[in-house]
Amino acid sequence: MNRIRLLGQWLDDRLALGRLYEHTIGHRIPASSASWWYVFGSATLVCLIIQLVTGVCLALVYVPSPDDAYASLEYLDYEQPFGWYLRGLHYWGSNFMVALVTIHMVQIFLFGAYKYPRELTWMVGCALFLATIGMAFTGQTMRFDQDAYWGVEIIVSILGRLPGVGEYATHLLQGGPIVGAETLSRFFALHVFVIPGALIGLLVIHIRLVLVLGISEYPVAGKHVEPGAYRDDYEGVVEKTGIRLMPEGGGKDLVFGALVLLAIVLCAALIGPKIPNGPADPTLIQTVPRPDFYFLSLFAAFALMPPYLETVVIVYVMPLAIVLLFAVPFISRGPERHPSRRPGAVIAVTVVLLSLFTLAWEGVQSPWSPDMDAWSGVPVQPRFVRGRSPLAHAGATILQAKQCRNCHALDGAGGKRGPDLAGVATRLTEDQLIRQVLQGGGNMPAYGKHLAPHEVTALVAFLGTLHPENQPPARSAASSSSSPTGFPEPR
Ligand code: HEC
Repeated sequence: MNRIRLLGQWLDDRLALGRLYEHTIGHRIPASSASWWYVFGSATLVCLIIQLVTGVCLALVYVPSPDDAYASLEYLDYEQPFGWYLRGLHYWGSNFMVALVTIHMVQIFLFGAYKYPRELTWMVGCALFLATIGMAFTGQTMRFDQDAYWGVEIIVSILGRLPGVGEYATHLLQGGPIVGAETLSRFFALHVFVIPGALIGLLVIHIRLVLVLGISEYPVAGKHVEPGAYRDDYEGVVEKTGIRLMPEGGGKDLVFGALVLLAIVLCAALIGPKIPNGPADPTLIQTVPRPDFYFLSLFAAFALMPPYLETVVIVYVMPLAIVLLFAVPFISRGPERHPSRRPGAVIAVTVVLLSLFTLAWEGVQSPWSPDMDAWSGVPVQPRFVRGRSPLAHAGATILQAKQCRNCHALDGAGGKRGPDLAGVATRLTEDQLIRQVLQGGGNMPAYGKHLAPHEVTALVAFLGTLHPENQPPARSAASSSSSPTGFPEPR
């Protein structure tokens, strides 16, 4: 016994463990903040630890390449003992982490805990929230199945709409002109190095702020936060009636953290991981791509809003919403903290949460597939359809509906990933056009399986009209001069 004490003293002498305890989990907190409302932050931390451990284990097996990612998931799911369980833990850990960090933010907001002097704690917390969402998104991409692919397509379209930098940002994130192997490598690097690194760094700052500024006391209606006097007040309260976080104050955190752990362990065991809905999966029932739950609201919002609003929302509303979130402590500067004295805050939370839930419900219910893409909202310019045959009109509609415009511009208006189609008929003959559409190639996907024959006919009829009036369309040498190709001539 004596030996152990001596060893303890020897270590403490060098590591100053006692002082570390005093300043961290042993620091004094207001007795009122040892409440069930204050457990969500530490519970989020529990999830993060689960994610780090299971994530490292998964990375030992997972292969970040489009050809092998799916196979490595199948290997985990069906061959490696408990591989499926590992995936389940990681999947449910992420679901719980997103949910808990959100609840944590809502609680902090409702309790006015972001007010003086904890403005910076809130802002770092917002950055942590964004990093968590970034982890969830890049993580969903790791499956590289149907859902993941569409998720990336949508983020890329969002980036593509940023004025000026859109094209470069898209290229940077995709690692090339299309979503492919390089894209997966980039998302993998983001998911396992960049975002976790940022997240841990931010977390260190967040916890440092919590330790330095103390945990906010339970709000009392009518008790005001006065920047001049608050700190002395707080110190006084902690001094007089404060308790130590560990062992006295943190009991509820431990209980709730253990419950969260149990819930994740049970969900992983009983519900299991999300089975990738890739093409090789025989259990595939639903082909409509759908994101993981935390993105359902966003997806539904874009699916339901009229196309002309999408760009406005992406370029202005979403960044503004993020700026507003960070700026909460500077917008809501009133001295009152208790929610009963801040009806505006309560209404704001209710409206935001109700909208998110309603939209998420729409996202689950409605049979849409995400067709929000960078340029599908921009119609084919009138001069390309004026005076054309009905068939060519139908073709223009198909060009629009099949989202060829995401990659192809018409006289400058549209995506830049493929050639501008405005003069395509002078470059390619009808046969070449058909081949390009059916077989793709050169970074263009093959549309053979996604278009009915009559759609191809209409599309090619429209593409055949895309030549300047004074320049005839390209003809194959075999065709006679009486235009048996059936291209309607523009009048
Ligand atoms: C993922 C982006 C992408 C999509 C979506 C896409 N294309 Fe393409 N397309 C390309 C690229 C890249 C090329 C250039 C291919 C090459 O260089 O060989 C191309 C080439 C073409 C060409 C030949 C153009 C020329 O001047 O040589 C035609 C015609 C064409 N696409 C039509 C379509 C149609 C019709 C659709 C919709 C059904 C469509 N594309 C959808 C990327 C795309």
